[in-house]
Amino acid sequence: MKKSISLLLLSLLMIAPSCQKPKETTNEYNIVPQPNQLVPKEGRFELNKQVRLVTPSDASEVKKVADGFAEQLKQTAGISLTEAESADGKPAISFVVQEDMPKEAYRLSVTPTLITVTASQPNGFFYGVQTIYQLLPPAVYGKKLNKKADWSVPAVEIEDAPRFVHRGLMLDVCRHYAPIEYIYKFIDLLAMNKMNVFHWHLTDDQGWRIEIKKYPKLTEIGSKREKTLVDYYYVNYPQVFDGIEHGGYYTQEQIKEVVAYAASKYINVIPEIEMPGHALAALAAYPELSCDSTQTYKVCPTWGVFEQVFCPSETTFKFFEGVMDEVVELFPSEYIHIGGDECPKTAWKNSAFCQQLIRQLGLKDDVTPSKVDGVKHSKEDKLQSYFVTRMEKYLNGKGRNIIGWDEILEGGLAPNATVLSWRGVEGGMNAAKAGHNAIMAPMPYAYLDFYQEDPEIAPTTIGGYTTLKKTYSYNPVPDDADELVKKHIIGMQGNLWREYMKTSDRVDYQAFPRAMAIAETGWTLDANKNWKSFCERMVTEFERLEVMDTKPCLNFFDVNVNTHADKNGPLMVLLETFYPNAEIRYTTDGSEPTNGSALYEQPFVLEGNIDLKAAAFKDGKMLGKVTHKPLYGNLLAGKPFTVNYAMGWTGDIFGENDVLGADPTTFGLTNGKRGNNASYTPWSSFAIVEGKDLEFIVNLDKPTEVSKVIFGSLFNPAMRMLPAGGIAVEVSADGQQYTQIAEKTLKHDCPETGRIAFTDSIEFEPAQATFLKVKIKNGGTLRNGVNFEKNNGPEVIPAELWIDEIEAY
Ligand code: ACM
Repeated sequence: MKKSISLLLLSLLMIAPSCQKPKETTNEYNIVPQPNQLVPKEGRFELNKQVRLVTPSDASEVKKVADGFAEQLKQTAGISLTEAESADGKPAISFVVQEDMPKEAYRLSVTPTLITVTASQPNGFFYGVQTIYQLLPPAVYGKKLNKKADWSVPAVEIEDAPRFVHRGLMLDVCRHYAPIEYIYKFIDLLAMNKMNVFHWHLTDDQGWRIEIKKYPKLTEIGSKREKTLVDYYYVNYPQVFDGIEHGGYYTQEQIKEVVAYAASKYINVIPEIEMPGHALAALAAYPELSCDSTQTYKVCPTWGVFEQVFCPSETTFKFFEGVMDEVVELFPSEYIHIGGDECPKTAWKNSAFCQQLIRQLGLKDDVTPSKVDGVKHSKEDKLQSYFVTRMEKYLNGKGRNIIGWDEILEGGLAPNATVLSWRGVEGGMNAAKAGHNAIMAPMPYAYLDFYQEDPEIAPTTIGGYTTLKKTYSYNPVPDDADELVKKHIIGMQGNLWREYMKTSDRVDYQAFPRAMAIAETGWTLDANKNWKSFCERMVTEFERLEVMDTKPCLNFFDVNVNTHADKNGPLMVLLETFYPNAEIRYTTDGSEPTNGSALYEQPFVLEGNIDLKAAAFKDGKMLGKVTHKPLYGNLLAGKPFTVNYAMGWTGDIFGENDVLGADPTTFGLTNGKRGNNASYTPWSSFAIVEGKDLEFIVNLDKPTEVSKVIFGSLFNPAMRMLPAGGIAVEVSADGQQYTQIAEKTLKHDCPETGRIAFTDSIEFEPAQATFLKVKIKNGGTLRNGVNFEKNNGPEVIPAELWIDEIEAY
């Protein structure tokens, strides 16, 4: 009895606030992408069932948008709006058509008594509604009733329109298939941030994922691979596979439904049908499409760039015409993406048919560089241009235009093609200057398959390093860009290549939150973008993602540990969290940070070796995970150095990305951070030649006692690396005359294959050094085709040295 009374009281208490005057709340506007004009106002509009929903009587699609909003509100707030022909002085949400507004623009006015959404087209109304959702509690994105949330909208005046017409994400479903349910969720996530393009990468070496009725073997055979690569591509040679069949494809019925669903959210689905490269899944089904049909082809269990490509024969053109006949029936998109990237020309060079066709078409190797990209192209590049141009003509005949990756610039751009710039910004810029439309999706900013947090704690990705901040920093059209660039760069998108995204959760993790940075870059004028404001708005965006059962990368809530040295040192430790106004608390003795640990206020000098642990706190609570990073404040930390070899890295480790530890003083080698076994990115590579050891020299500025050197090197024969074979240490007072004080041969217990980070040290009688030289021998030789994938090089090669951190004590 007692229990039921208290429950009754509790429920009365819970109901009570909605009967009272609303409490004063500070209005917040956590809208992503940031509207281009937003004026905050006082007061709030309360949603309840008395609120009228007013839509124009002669605009059924606008009514559909309004009804969709009302439906979502009913489901999540339990509030049914009252449909009415006019507000009639009552609280109302009114949809008003104003013909002269641009297609995607909208105006949103919220006062305590009236919400007005004004636009010319349904698209604009849809975006107005997306903004209203973001002014409501995150619960509005859910499927469940939430009576506790504050169902009111802050007063505001917004005038908004997108910067670019193309704003989207590409999802590769070939490397790993995405269940159809995920495609719907992905579309919801695009729509939420006002993106309007879903680029669906449907065919590739690892799987053909679209049903084509004329060519059933494409899916019968081409949609299944017998096994999938295990671990990172270059860890093992021969590669190791899981032995598990992977497959899946989308029926035409499913595709039609997806396209219709996307259209209801004003998202255009652009299908990508790859040609002439990335052809293995199709060749496995129809070998006659290759240049050598006597070979057998397999749906590819690994990833990369393969020489087995489509042959530009009449059989192939007839095939693609048949495929496109069905594709255009499924996708109303003006644009069809024809791929065009990474097509090696070996098969065409070796094919008598292709060489004959080249002669017949009068194609010649360039003798002068192309006006468009400044490169001399081969006759085979021109054959690719012939291929793409023929398909363009076919699609133009059906009222469609083509998009291709930036390689379609090579050998001559098809007359009406739009270029999708991925290898950097050059392709897009060159296309625009040549008067073609271009879309920017450049590495590293738009490559959402890259790492976004320290690889040591992240799941395996394809590599690289692109933080949320890096992605956000991109501006597709700088203010000082050429007029043609301003005119022809029509948008931006992010790319999700799924080699390392087996599951939908992994796609979530790679895509979000960086997709929001891309959405903002696509929508918001550069002058209105602001990293600090973006982070502030992202806090609520993460709540929305949670309501939508999305699993983003949560590095936003953690601390990134940077070190940095200017030319004259010292090495500074910089701690950073993207979470706004959070406290960073840290320890240096390996203990767990608490709310009482040292407060990070500014960069501090790294002194001695520390076992750093740091976390972000807000209101006394830890926000995310603890970041653990031992730092080595040795004699060389933060010092510039010289080496007798060119240095290489596998990822972008400078600028916004120096989270991994590199700056133009230490280049990652004397930055106090050791490399780890998780990724190649922070390691420095040296292509050692026979008889010339690596020599690394540091000026210690004054006579300094040295008795120990420590360094790390990587074992990874599949990437042509062996751990160091020996070390010698020399000292000098003047940088001219060196005396060797210690030498050691190094032996490592290594398996046949794999990746291992070794740490070696050499200790010696204390010696005085003003200049310290560390000589490192490479680990011996490797056998071509035995230790690593066979190439055209010699049978035996010296192993490369990959080093991270050289320390002295
Ligand atoms: C690409 O990333 N190969 C377009």
